[in-house]
Amino acid sequence: MEIFFEIHKDLPREGPGNNESTKKSFSFLKQLPLNPRILDIGCGPGMQTIQLAKMTDCKIIALDTHQPFLDELNRRAKRKGVQDRIETVNGSMFSLDFKDDFFDIIWSEGAIYIFGFGKGLKEWRQFLKKGGYFVISELSWLKQNPPEEIKGFWKKNYPNIKLIEENIQIIKNLGYDFLHNFTIPESGWWDDYYIPLKNRITLLRKKYKGNIEANKVLDQELEEIFLYKKYSEYYGYVFYIIQNK
Ligand SMILES: C[S@@+](CC[C@H](N)C(=O)[O-])C[C@H]1O[C@@H](n2cnc3c(N)ncnc32)[C@H](O)[C@@H]1O
Repeated sequence: MEIFFEIHKDLPREGPGNNESTKKSFSFLKQLPLNPRILDIGCGPGMQTIQLAKMTDCKIIALDTHQPFLDELNRRAKRKGVQDRIETVNGSMFSLDFKDDFFDIIWSEGAIYIFGFGKGLKEWRQFLKKGGYFVISELSWLKQNPPEEIKGFWKKNYPNIKLIEENIQIIKNLGYDFLHNFTIPESGWWDDYYIPLKNRITLLRKKYKGNIEANKVLDQELEEIFLYKKYSEYYGYVFYIIQNK
């Protein structure tokens, strides 16, 4: 775990995504109150949190279990002058403790997989106002029948990855209005995530030269990057924009 956090410390973000995709998702939300209440689950260092705070006069609760990410988010919010709109909370998505019907938007980029896509949408609903929105990004298959190599990788690392149509069906089965989906551009994997991650791995290779355990972890991270380069047409990060009827 220690090396994992050393790899991931102070990166621009902690999963694929970019400000353009956050902005695009937000543009689908209509008739929001003047000061919407937003819950950002698994916020990490908060690139999307800051972007949201810049776009609307909102009040955001940014929730994560890793305090160094929340500290970094607080520093960034101060630098951007949006600290008054953001409250960081060290808490778990497995035990949310908010009033019912409290949020206008529940936002989560690249984190619902930890709880489960369908499970999160079902169990977090109570905190969302009627007419409120879920905006969720989730790793999804873009095509049927991916090659064995990549299928095997994700079977081991995220067995619940589904096709876009399957996720949309889950949303509809839960009784939500499914509004829209789109796949983030490949640049959203590289610019703020894989390129900084790769640079970090190069630095740590030097530091951990000869350390077999540490290099195993670095190899695993590199494998994911290598496979994305090879198979990016088969899977992607997909935003799902959903309304609570
Ligand atoms: C893949 S990262 C995504 C971070 C951020 N949303 C982004 O896109 O840069 C997943 C985040 O979920 C957080 N996390 C892990 N388990 C959690 C839990 N039980 N409750 C809340 N957050 C959790 C991690 O600390 C990490 O910041």
